Amino acid sequence: MSDYLIELGRKEYVEFSQRIAGSFPKLTFGAFANRDLCNELAYAGKDLFGDVIESMQALLIDPSVGLSAVDIARDDASTDHQNLVIGAAAATAICASLFESRTNPIGQTPFWLHMTPPGVAKASGIDIQYNNTTDVVLHTDWYCSNDEAYVPNRIGLFNLLVSYKRPGNFHWLPFSKWSEFTEFSKNDLLRSDISFELLPQLLVTKDGNSRFGEKYLRTGPIVKDGEAGPIYFLNGRIDRNGRNSTQTVAEFDRLRSALKESYGRFEIAQAERRLIVLNNLTCFHGRDRMEDPIPGAPVQRAFLRFMDDTRVSFGKTQVFHD
Ligand SMILES: [Fe+2]
Repeated sequence: MSDYLIELGRKEYVEFSQRIAGSFPKLTFGAFANRDLCNELAYAGKDLFGDVIESMQALLIDPSVGLSAVDIARDDASTDHQNLVIGAAAATAICASLFESRTNPIGQTPFWLHMTPPGVAKASGIDIQYNNTTDVVLHTDWYCSNDEAYVPNRIGLFNLLVSYKRPGNFHWLPFSKWSEFTEFSKNDLLRSDISFELLPQLLVTKDGNSRFGEKYLRTGPIVKDGEAGPIYFLNGRIDRNGRNSTQTVAEFDRLRSALKESYGRFEIAQAERRLIVLNNLTCFHGRDRMEDPIPGAPVQRAFLRFMDDTRVSFGKTQVFHD
């Protein structure tokens, strides 16, 4: 087992499950909108998963690592559905101890639930448009709130279900391990306004259809100074339609190739019931496309995404229309 992967044992998991069942006997995904439940989860997490949380926190604040992962046990005496919901509760409890999660405005849950029914990725064209290469595209995560673009300090990703034969890896590059970090971080062109087309999210509706979310155009810097050093907003495609100077486009391409060829990258397998928490202010990350879906599975992948409410603003963003 690697140094950054921790295990949450069955004993602690069952104890946690029983404690939650005492106050909330019939837990569903909708129940996570309830503040009392989330507070109860946070308390139970601190009480029962103290060692796990302490180890994760140490890795997250270590600039040479910046990521920690935990495999959440299953209880074979419980049903599949109970294991799904209690697994999500355990991930929520751990994230609540590591950062304050932003509330999803749709549904008021402390996470975003993403699901991929069979065939959706292909049918939507997202594979062809954005993921037609085997290269891992390193980036930082962002979100938009009231037209402002933010980079959250931390993010959490919990794979509830993975129905692929080759789920591939999650990759990350701590800034401290990237030999050209200082050079690029001082670059005036990357600190000036650059126009970007941010990648739209693939949204899946209840009937299993999919569509793209809104596209955003962002004009702002890629790098700026944070409290503890330079921070990156690196996401989407540089606008090649004349809004950027040729020098800016060339500099961006140089940054992309430098990252592609960089050493110092870590990787961890994408696996079911694995929670990955990442320091988004000290690392880039990217992941392999999952390959070979298991035939007959009702869901190809389901995961929860947690985003830190503590964040760094990178300025205004507007909806992209042309
Ligand atoms: Fe990401």
